[in-house]
Formats: sequence, C-alpha cells, structure tokens
Amino acid sequence: MMEDKVRQIREEIEGQIASIETSAALYEFRKKFLDNKEGQIAQLMKAMKDLTKEERPVFGKIVNELKTWATEQFDLYDAQIKAKELALKNKAEEIDVTMPGVMHTPGALHPDTLIINELIDIFSGMGFEIFEGNEIENDYYNFTALNTPKDHPARDMQDTFYVSEDFLLRTQTSAGQIHVMENAKPPIKILSPGKVFRSDDDATHSPMFSQMEGLVVDKNISVCDLQGMLDIFSQRIFGEGVKTRLRPSYFPFTEPSVEVDVSCFACGGAGCKLCKGTGWIEVLGAGMVNRHVLENCGIDPDVYSGFAFGMGVERIAMLKYGINNIKALFESDTRFADQFKN
Ligand code: DAH
Repeated sequence: MMEDKVRQIREEIEGQIASIETSAALYEFRKKFLDNKEGQIAQLMKAMKDLTKEERPVFGKIVNELKTWATEQFDLYDAQIKAKELALKNKAEEIDVTMPGVMHTPGALHPDTLIINELIDIFSGMGFEIFEGNEIENDYYNFTALNTPKDHPARDMQDTFYVSEDFLLRTQTSAGQIHVMENAKPPIKILSPGKVFRSDDDATHSPMFSQMEGLVVDKNISVCDLQGMLDIFSQRIFGEGVKTRLRPSYFPFTEPSVEVDVSCFACGGAGCKLCKGTGWIEVLGAGMVNRHVLENCGIDPDVYSGFAFGMGVERIAMLKYGINNIKALFESDTRFADQFKN
C-alpha cells in the first residue's frame, strides 16, 4: 500500500517535471511533494507511525531515498529553468553600446525674454521692484483712472478687445500703475512687464505684444530724474555713448508727456537706414504722472510727484537684434530663437 504510494509519487514527478516551463510553476509542483508539512512525502513520513516496529526502518529508508531523489530532481530542473530564464531576461535587456545616441539640443530663450530679462536686470539694479499686473482689466483701470474717460479721443489710439461689457484685455501695462498706487504709499518704484492686446496687425504691430512699464512716485521727483534714468537705461541696453532726447508728446496720464529717442546706435547719429537718416530712434513714451492720476489713487499731487514710462518689448528686440518683421517673433520657429543664443 505504502510502496504503491512511493511509486506513484515517483512516476508523477518523472512524468511531469520535464514539461514544466517556468521556475514559478516548478516551485508550485515541488511544494506538492516536498513541502515540509503538506507535501506528499511529509505525509508518508507521518503515516509511518501506523507501521510495525519491523516495517518502520525498512520503509523509512525507502521514503528517505525518495525524498533525496526528488530533491535532486527538482534542484536539477530548477537550475536548468532558471538558467534559461536568465538568458531570456538578458537578451531582452541587451544594450547595443555601438548604437548612436539620441541627441538633445538645448533650446534658446525667445528674444522677448532676453530683452525682458535684460531690462529687469538694468532696472532692478536701480532699485525698481517687479510688479505683474492683470491681463484682463476693467475699463476703469485701463482707461478712466488713467485720465482717459469715456469719449476721450485718446481711446481711439488703442483699439481694444472687449471680453464682456465690463472687462477688456488690457491695451497697456499702464493699468498696473493704478493697482500699485492704490495699494502702496510713496516712495514707489516699480517695473511692470507684461502682455498687452490691441486690434492691430502689420509688419511692426501684433495683436498681442509685450510692454515694460515703469513708475516712480516720491517727493521732489522731476523730469531730471526721468532723464538721468533714461540715459543709464539707454547706454546699458544699446551701448556706451548712446544719448537720449526728449520730444514733447501727449499721453492722457502724463503731463508733460514726452517721446524718448536714442541716438542711432548703428550709425552713431550720422544717419542711416535704421534711423531713416535722422540719427535718432524712438524707443518709448514717458512723462510726469498727471496730477489727476495721482488723485484718482489717493496720492496728494501737492506733496508727491512722479514719472512713468512705457516701452514695447518687441520694438526694443527688433531694434537691438535687427529683426525687421514682428511676425518672426510669433512664429514659434525654434531656429529663429536659436540665432540669439549666447
Ligand atoms: N501706455 C503707453 C502706450 O501703450 C506707453 C506709455 C507712455 C506709458 C507714457 C507710460 C507713459 O507710463 O508715461 O502707448
């Protein structure tokens, strides 16, 4: 009876072990016989207690032999299967070190970003703090508080995109001036970069572009402070020896208002294609903050005065890098940006 069982175990192992393909399956199959508690061989050993004293050693020897034999079989097959599995795994993970690598070309900063970074550098060196305003404004911040009430002819200077009856895409970063002055007491010295939007589209205008606004408010601020700051700014951005010139102009939010020219950095002022023969290039608008604007923000114009300026970032980039069509700045062609890599 017990001999039958021994034979049967042997036959089952011999009959099936060769067809097992994975080490996991082999492990399960092994447990069936060799598990210390539940295994069929362990069960056989347990059953030996029912044998007679004489039978026990004889049978014990047989079961031990079976156990030794089975262990060897399983170890042998296990080693073979594991070797095969390892070979497969290695094959799957094989790396051909002679294959050419994937090249990653680092990108380049957009000319707008280069100019914005440069301006922030220059002005923060002069003590300006950065303020980023809202791209969506209401009529009050974009126009009315800037001394440009409804029906004011200056509104025609900027064709506005409205997003609803009350809200619009800001046409100028000047809107940020109002937020700053409403929330801070002088001395105020801020620089405000940001995108602005106008319904305007040709070789030098884009419906979306970037501006850089500046505002300084304190006691005794005069046009001389503006001029001195502009000289430093111009020389830093366009080169040593560049001069500035203020021309009378008009903006509702400044009085007096000026248009700022720099001496042509291409020809040194002699007259060339870039400056259209005049020796001067217009770069920004500026002026002394209109007293109505200060009043609108709760700042006493009899105690404080200030200057403001605003420039188009693309215009500065086009001048500085010799770009002749603003569209090149918005085509997202990485080869274009690559040219300005330094
Ligand atoms: N906001 C003006 C524009 O978009 C530029 C400007 C002019 C800003 C004079 C100023 C300023 O702060 O004082 O055309």
